[in-house]
Amino acid sequence: KDLYYTYISPSIDTPEKFEAKRAHMAQNIWREMKANDSHTCRSCHRDDKMDPNLQSEKAKVRHAKAKVDGKTCIECHFAIAHKEPEGPGPAELFETAAAKPE
Ligand code: HEC
Ligand code: HEC
Repeated sequence: KDLYYTYISPSIDTPEKFEAKRAHMAQNIWREMKANDSHTCRSCHRDDKMDPNLQSEKAKVRHAKAKVDGKTCIECHFAIAHKEPEGPGPAELFETAAAKPE
């Protein structure tokens, strides 16, 4: 299903059409991952197995703050495997969504 909608759908069958839709597709994935608490990440990175004492000082501080603020992985870690598309990132996106519920 992912392959079909991401790569084979006729509306994005050229690199130009794909690039034009990339931001929109990325934003849909971010929304999905925010809603499911970054389920995909957690299938490998188990929260209960992450030892803050083995993390960098920066990671330790931010992860502790993330717990307090109720932030999920994708809100900070995005565009890791793919270059970031044009347009708003998760932070801007979710602020907008919170201010203007759909
Ligand atoms: C299929 C398993 C898997 C999934 C799914 C996965 N990761 Fe990872 N991740 C790894 C492994 C393995 C490493 C260590 C790679 C290495 O050290 O070369 C890693 C490394 C990382 C790192 C550290 C990179 C660095 O440069 O030190 C971050 C941050 C990270 N993952 C975040 C995420 C986030 C966020 C998600 C969800 C969007 C995610 N990962 C999904 C397996 C996974
Ligand atoms: C509030 C922002 C934030 C959230 C939310 C967050 N992280 Fe991180 N994470 C960071 C920062 C900042 C670093 C350190 C990056 C650096 O040192 O360059 C980091 C580092 C990491 C690393 C590398 C560990 C290390 O020692 O550098 C992994 C793996 C990782 N995060 C996984 C996750 C996973 C999985 C989640 C969700 C359960 C998550 N993070 C949620 C900000 C966040």
